[in-house]
Amino acid sequence: PAAVIVAIDGPAGTGKSSTSKSVAAKLGLGYLDTGAQYRAITWWMLNNGIDVNDATAVADAAAKPVIVSGTDPSAPTITVDGLDAAGPIRTQEVTAAVSAVSAVPEVRSLITDLQRSIAAAAPNGIVVEGRDIGSTVLPDADLKVFLTASPEARAARRSGELKGKEAADLAATREALIKRDTADSSRKTSPLAKADDAVEVDTTELTLDQVIECVVTLIEGAS
Ligand code: C5P
Repeated sequence: PAAVIVAIDGPAGTGKSSTSKSVAAKLGLGYLDTGAQYRAITWWMLNNGIDVNDATAVADAAAKPVIVSGTDPSAPTITVDGLDAAGPIRTQEVTAAVSAVSAVPEVRSLITDLQRSIAAAAPNGIVVEGRDIGSTVLPDADLKVFLTASPEARAARRSGELKGKEAADLAATREALIKRDTADSSRKTSPLAKADDAVEVDTTELTLDQVIECVVTLIEGAS
């Protein structure tokens, strides 16, 4: 059978990563977390003293870091210039800066090219999760899914992933999440958006297993 390409988009806290990883593992497909790539380039900018709010400085430096993503869904990896970035890209500092960096067109164009080449090289196909995969990166995907959930459900899920003090402050998590979604949805270059031909799945009242089952059924129907 031909390689199947699946695009899974949506705002933060809708279960994109957990769903995409499980679906890929179940079906023997690769997995690509594109948010991790934007986080990785952001981490590099912060480490190299680039002002993330200076779009010109970010654009000028965008091609310098070498970002490599491993696509095994049971052990996804990400490195920047050979350094393991999986831990550091999840800090609050990176999370707070990533929307500014990912809004810069030069950053998007470089990362989009990288994503397309990774998807094209996946032997059995791949599940790619992000914000603009169905709309911009892989417009010919075999299946496009757009996950949504209420702001309360999204904040509660995200809060459950954080530890200690960060998890305690649900209200702050909700505010930070809404701020990031607003920035991601309102930027000029390839904003967070549902592709016209994407299937929207509201996960507010669904368990993770139910979302996984739903997406697997959609893929089987599409391929
Ligand atoms: O999915 P995650 O929360 O890790 O994404 C981090 C950030 O990366 C998003 O808030 C967004 O700014 C950016 N992003 C993007 N396009 C994608 C995936 C993520 O702009 N396809």
